[in-house]
Amino acid sequence: MPRLCVACALAMVLIYLLGLSAPAAAADPAPVSFIRDVAPVLQEQCFACHNGRKKSGKYDMTRFNLLTAGGSSGEPITAGNVAESDFHGLMVTADDRRMPPRDKGDGVPPARAALVARWIREGAKLDPGIDPGADLVKELRARWSPPAPAAVYAHPPVVNALAFTPDGQSLVVGGRHELTVWSLPAGKLTRRVRTRAERAYALLFLKDGTLAVAGGRPGQEGDVCVYDLNGPGRTDAGVTYLDGVADPKVKLATLVTCDDAVLCLALSPDRSRLAAGGCDRAVRVWDISNGAKSAKLTHTAETHTDWVLGVAFSADAKLLATAGRDKAAKVYDLAANESVLTFPAHNQPVHAVTFTPDGQGVISVGADKELRGWSPTGEGKQTKAGPGHADEVFRLALHPATNTLATASADKTVRLWDAAKLQPKRTLAGLPDHVYAVAFSPDGTRVAGGAYTGDVRVWAAADGKVVAAFVAAPGRK
Ligand code: HEC
Repeated sequence: MPRLCVACALAMVLIYLLGLSAPAAAADPAPVSFIRDVAPVLQEQCFACHNGRKKSGKYDMTRFNLLTAGGSSGEPITAGNVAESDFHGLMVTADDRRMPPRDKGDGVPPARAALVARWIREGAKLDPGIDPGADLVKELRARWSPPAPAAVYAHPPVVNALAFTPDGQSLVVGGRHELTVWSLPAGKLTRRVRTRAERAYALLFLKDGTLAVAGGRPGQEGDVCVYDLNGPGRTDAGVTYLDGVADPKVKLATLVTCDDAVLCLALSPDRSRLAAGGCDRAVRVWDISNGAKSAKLTHTAETHTDWVLGVAFSADAKLLATAGRDKAAKVYDLAANESVLTFPAHNQPVHAVTFTPDGQGVISVGADKELRGWSPTGEGKQTKAGPGHADEVFRLALHPATNTLATASADKTVRLWDAAKLQPKRTLAGLPDHVYAVAFSPDGTRVAGGAYTGDVRVWAAADGKVVAAFVAAPGRK
């Protein structure tokens, strides 16, 4: 044990408490970096109310020059003086002015607030090489790298998306920072494709057999990427590992990166156009007729006032139907570039939409538990209503060739419907919790559902027999 004289130790404590230059023995920590140590705290706990759109207290913190300029009360940071910096004071104050507001979220953890204090004491500087006017969200995104997926999952992932492979032999499931591929009917894990996105919310195979994936990290970032699941990988104990973060032979294209998760995807019936919608409220459409690598963004529409949860093309790909958390379904005319119709009847968040197999109608589902059929032209009259589910309906999948619609619900079931008449065909039960994902096999003979608990089930569409059942958590027995 190294010995310290008591007086020296006391003196060191005193010097430290007085905030004078730290003694060399105190391991001389590197200066606090704004972008590495401070900005992530702000992103997690402040940006939600202090950004370019929502400037609470007239204060936008998402660019360094605006952060230091402050809001209606003036400059909140006095370099070198923590006591005069409201920016830190509001994080640690015991009174009602605390930030984030007490009724709106947890306080900044003391260790992180202490880093902010040290950053101010050290001069409140921006790291060299960053433009003071740069968008900090983009700067943080550029510096962030995704963690490696756990070899063995401690908890099963919420299954937000799944898709049959084009040969119908396997299921692709969204895991944590990866896509997992499971052979059927055994439910054996065969492939793991690492992704930057923490979660996949929509999976869609394109004409050339590559996979479009919409996802992200909620509240942080979102993307739509295209992967080749047959790309090169490393095989170990029967599982092939692909790098969808850095290997350009696996991640073929990034169609968009944005500030929040992307939640839904749709392919035009001729498979030449792809549409996506998500938490940033935008609906984007790409022309992918020359492949995803040469995708061209043709439309960016913002017609909903909240998250876009569902999107679908009409048969002629002239119209786009969208479902919003703002309680409306809408129809967008792609040629005219304008919103042509709002369907308000759900009166609750609308979770998914599709056009009917004949292309003449739209079916939407949502938190009101109902299936509603309506006309995408004229006044958007409701034409049909199914008996619905016993709880919220989250997703739907259409298999046009067999005229079958599948819906996934919080009532723990997947239900099959005659898509033209909206009449129930079959209820597929057995999943233990909310069903968030549903998909048809390419030939329409099987239906897969994925639940909040990580459970996946595959049923035969004709008789409802269970074809496969497994938990989509790598490494779990
Ligand atoms: C849930 C929303 C919310 C969050 C999160 C939030 N704030 Fe605020 N903030 C407000 C509102 C509202 C005001 C205006 C309060 C007022 O004027 O009385 C405000 C005002 C401020 C002000 C004063 C601005 C001015 O010039 O008047 C500062 C500084 C501030 N916040 C810092 C922060 C920091 C730092 C964080 C993160 C640790 C944070 N806020 C997180 C809502 C929020």
